Amino acid sequence: MMMVYSPAEDSWLLAENVPEPFGSKEFLDIGCGTGIIGINAARKGWHVTCTDLDPLAVKTARRNFEKEDLSGEFLVGDLFEPVKGRKFDVIAFNTPYLPTGQEDQDAENRIVWDGGKEGINHAVSTIKQAGGFLSEEGEIIILVSSLGNIKKLFRIAREQGYNVSIIACKKLFFEELLVLSFKKSSAENA
Ligand SMILES: C[S@@+](CC[C@H](N)C(=O)[O-])C[C@H]1O[C@@H](n2cnc3c(N)ncnc32)[C@H](O)[C@@H]1O
Repeated sequence: MMMVYSPAEDSWLLAENVPEPFGSKEFLDIGCGTGIIGINAARKGWHVTCTDLDPLAVKTARRNFEKEDLSGEFLVGDLFEPVKGRKFDVIAFNTPYLPTGQEDQDAENRIVWDGGKEGINHAVSTIKQAGGFLSEEGEIIILVSSLGNIKKLFRIAREQGYNVSIIACKKLFFEELLVLSFKKSSAENA
């Protein structure tokens, strides 16, 4: 049965690293699941847009915002497709980050965990497509695992004109969770 991802260590780690509002206060929570990251952002004062490929996740996030008496926007779709023409100061994504072939994972729910052969497919697509959606001073925060090809992700991000840094990490039994921050090099050198 298809299930919305239950918040876990990865969700908490990214949620804890939501920055304080700046700029026009527009925050995009891609792959919102239950809305945990967006809820944390809305509590801080961000105007939050939650999106997910899974309509049930978007419905769940909307319901959880309502329970908390928080407002937000809720859109179904692939990555940036539902927010065409818009700009955000923060783009957050707790990506499906496990390398394909994890036999202990639920195949039916691969939408929540499958990050492709090297575990970085979603992170790479986000970085490559984010340019036009990010405000000049904006930041992308992405959660990935040390099981993925992080070196390759760093290389691609630099090629795309981003400065990359690790802003948080958490050691688990088999892997390390990493929150990566990507900022346009032009913004940092201005
Ligand atoms: C690891 S879960 C994270 C859920 C939630 N943000 C959290 O931290 O608990 C990844 C989420 O990304 C969504 N997702 C997967 N591929 C996507 C895509 N191409 N565009 C938007 N959302 C996607 C999944 O449906 C799932 O809800």
